[in-house]
Amino acid sequence: MDSIRVTGNGPLYGTITIAGSKNACLAQMPATLLSEEPLTLTNAPNLSDIKTMTELLRSLGAEVSSMQNGRVLTMSGHDIGKHVAVYDIVRKMRASILVLGPLLARLGRAVVSLPGGCVIGARPVDLHLMALEALGAKLELRDGYVYASAKNGLSGGLVEFPFASVGATENAMMAATLARGSTILKNAARDPEIVDLAICLREMGAKIKGEGTSEIAIEGTDRLHGATHSVMADRIEMGTYMLVPGLCGGEIECIGAKTTLATAFCEKLSEAGINVEETKKGVKVSRKGDHVKALNVVTETYPGFPTDLQAQMMAMMCIANGESVLEEKIFENRFMHASELIRMGASINVQGGTATVAGVKKLKGAPVMATDLRASASLILAGLAATGDTIVNRVYHLDRGYERIEEKLRNVGALIERMSG
Ligand code: UD1
Repeated sequence: MDSIRVTGNGPLYGTITIAGSKNACLAQMPATLLSEEPLTLTNAPNLSDIKTMTELLRSLGAEVSSMQNGRVLTMSGHDIGKHVAVYDIVRKMRASILVLGPLLARLGRAVVSLPGGCVIGARPVDLHLMALEALGAKLELRDGYVYASAKNGLSGGLVEFPFASVGATENAMMAATLARGSTILKNAARDPEIVDLAICLREMGAKIKGEGTSEIAIEGTDRLHGATHSVMADRIEMGTYMLVPGLCGGEIECIGAKTTLATAFCEKLSEAGINVEETKKGVKVSRKGDHVKALNVVTETYPGFPTDLQAQMMAMMCIANGESVLEEKIFENRFMHASELIRMGASINVQGGTATVAGVKKLKGAPVMATDLRASASLILAGLAATGDTIVNRVYHLDRGYERIEEKLRNVGALIERMSG
C-alpha cells in the first residue's frame, strides 16, 4: 500500500491549479441515466471516486469514455438496460446512491444497494427515500437493497426536507426532471454543487428554478437531451491548498479558485491573520505574521463553514497562537484525525462533537494513519508544518479526492514523495 512522506521545510511559494469538483462531478455523472443522448462533462477531476462512478454507470449499461487524462468524460445513457446497482460497487462510495433517482425516473424501477455506514458516521439515506416517495415511488428495503418502483412513472410533489441534505436534494432534483408535473423541494441544500447540477440539468433541457436557495422548483419534462457541461472548481481542494501558507508560511496562488465558493471559510482565514486576495486567475493567500491566530469554527450546512474543510482547519489550529474551538455539527464521528495529529505533538481535547485545540509552537513528524479522505489531507498539511518526516499511510483515501497532491505541493517547493509499498 502506498504511503506519502512529507518533510517540513519552511515557507512555500507558487501556484496550484485547482481541479474540477469531485462532488459536483459525482452528482452530474448519474444525470447521464436521464437521457438517451450523450452527456459530456469537461473539467472533470481525475480521481478514483470518478472511476468508481464510471464503473457503476457502466454496470447499468451506460457508455462512459474518458479522454484527455480523465479531464473529459463522454457518457451515453442510450442503452441503459440494467436497473440494479450492486453492493460490490456501491460499498466503495456512498455517492453511488445518486443513481437511484435517475434510474427510477428513466426506467420506472431501480434496485440500489444501501451504501451502509462509513467511518465518519452512520450516514443514513432516509431523506433520499423520503423525497422519492413524495414523488410517487414505492419503496421497500430488503436484504440490504432499496427496491424502488414507479410503474406509471414519477409524479411531481412537495418535498420538505427536515435537514438540508446535499445528496438527497441532488437525487430528488434529478428524479423530478422526468416526473409528471411540478415538484417543489423545501429546505433544499444550497451548496454550489447543487447550483452546478441544476445548470447541467438545464443544459440537458430540464426546467429548474431556485437552485442556490432553500426552495427549488422543477417542472417535469418527457425527455432530456444531450449536453456538454463544464464542472465547477473544487472548493474543498481549493480550501485545502489555501491553508498551506497558514501552516508553513509563504504565498500560494490557487488558479481557478474563487472566494465566493467558500465565503465562510475565507472569512475564518482572514480572522486567523491570513491575507486572502482575489487575482485575475484565482485567489492568492499569504500569512501576515509568524503565527496564525486561534479561531472558533462551527461546521454547518452551506453557506456555513464546510465540514469537508474541518480536518484541514484543525491542522492549522494545532500551531495557532492560543486556544481554538472546533464544533462539528454535520457528522457525528469526524474527529479521527485528532488522535493522529496528537501523535505529531498537537494538543487536542475532543468531547463529543467539540474539539478544543491548544496551539503548540511546533509539530513533530511521525508515522500516521489516514482514516478518511479529508483527514488524510489534514495530516499532509500538518506534515508541511512539522519538523522531520511525517509518513502518511493508507493514502488511497487521498487518491479518492485529491488529484496528484504530492506533485501539486512539490511544485510549490514542498518536500513530499509517494512511496510505493
Ligand atoms: C455530501 C458530500 C460530502 C459532504 C456532505 C456535507 C458528495 C459526494 N459528498 O455528502 O463530501 O461532507 O455533503 O456537506 O457530494 N443524512 C441523513 N439522512 C439522509 C442523508 C443525510 O440523516 O438521507 C445526514 C448524514 O448522516 C449527515 C448529514 O445528513 O449527518 C449530511 O449529509 P448530506 O448533506 O446528505 O451529505 P452527503 O450528500 O452524503
